[in-house]
Amino acid sequence: MKKIFAVVLALVLALTLVACGGGAATETEAEGAKQVGVCIYQFNDNFMTLYRQELESYMSGLGDYEITIVDGKNDMAEQTNQVDTFIAQGVDVLIVNLVQSSSAATITERAQAADIPVVYINREPSSEDMAAWDKICYVGADARQSGTFQGEIVAELPDQGDADGDGVVRYVMIMGDPENVDAQYRTEYSIKALTDAGIEVECLFEQRGDWDQTKGQELAATALSQFDNIDVIFCNNDAMALGAYQAIVAAGKVDADGKLDGIYLLGVDALDECVEMVANGQMTGTVLNDHVGQSHVAVDCAIRYMNGETNETLNVVDYQKVTV
Ligand code: BGC
Repeated sequence: MKKIFAVVLALVLALTLVACGGGAATETEAEGAKQVGVCIYQFNDNFMTLYRQELESYMSGLGDYEITIVDGKNDMAEQTNQVDTFIAQGVDVLIVNLVQSSSAATITERAQAADIPVVYINREPSSEDMAAWDKICYVGADARQSGTFQGEIVAELPDQGDADGDGVVRYVMIMGDPENVDAQYRTEYSIKALTDAGIEVECLFEQRGDWDQTKGQELAATALSQFDNIDVIFCNNDAMALGAYQAIVAAGKVDADGKLDGIYLLGVDALDECVEMVANGQMTGTVLNDHVGQSHVAVDCAIRYMNGETNETLNVVDYQKVTV
């Protein structure tokens, strides 16, 4: 019932906007500023914080854009309301980092009713959802590549990740929130890279830490207390790897300089502090998730839409290995 009401409300708002279109458009044009509505799934996320800051500073440098960025607080109902508000305000384009990838269809429907193009970022909707309208596109990275890179970093180590030399790479996997397919792909492809290299593996522990540092720390602590033969801890992102490192220190698996001792630790994102940790031997490696490249492509796509141009449906930015 609530949903029907919301859809009706969105339609009424859309029609009102169409009806008053002339006036509203003239006002915006007179001010010269195009309005951009940006929805982030939650501000409390290390990677998306860097992403949104870069997005805002890059776009502000390109012209007179009025950019409003809102925090979805990891709550899809809240984010849907935010989209409705942006639509009611008559923004010229939306940039959306979905809370729930599966809600793309609902968001697209609302935007399409008001003829406001959408650039989806970071959480990739299904290909079916991406085919729904020609004024939506996705900007992100292919998470299969980041998983493969994590696995390759381990396979390229002198002992191929077999820290205790018993012939099997026994690992712990700390996963992100599956609402982002990155979690699933990084989990799958990191291990595939090992088995593709002919390495024998055993999964000791696999649980979701929802991209969160504290959860990463708690899960790694649990795993380390249950198993004394862990060779590698894979984390789907760096925030969780930061937490896992704290647990590794607490478990005494570091030397006097804090370097990893008898265990390997991998993340993804290449947060500044993690790149430094890799250089110091406190992490084995990470993978650059290029928030600069991705935010710039997202902004470029948004501007093309505002200029009445089209975009490719999928816009992919490459990852890079970070090992030194
Ligand atoms: C990043 C994570 C981030 C997540 C948010 C991923 O691509 O690697 O750090 O938490 O996106 O959806």
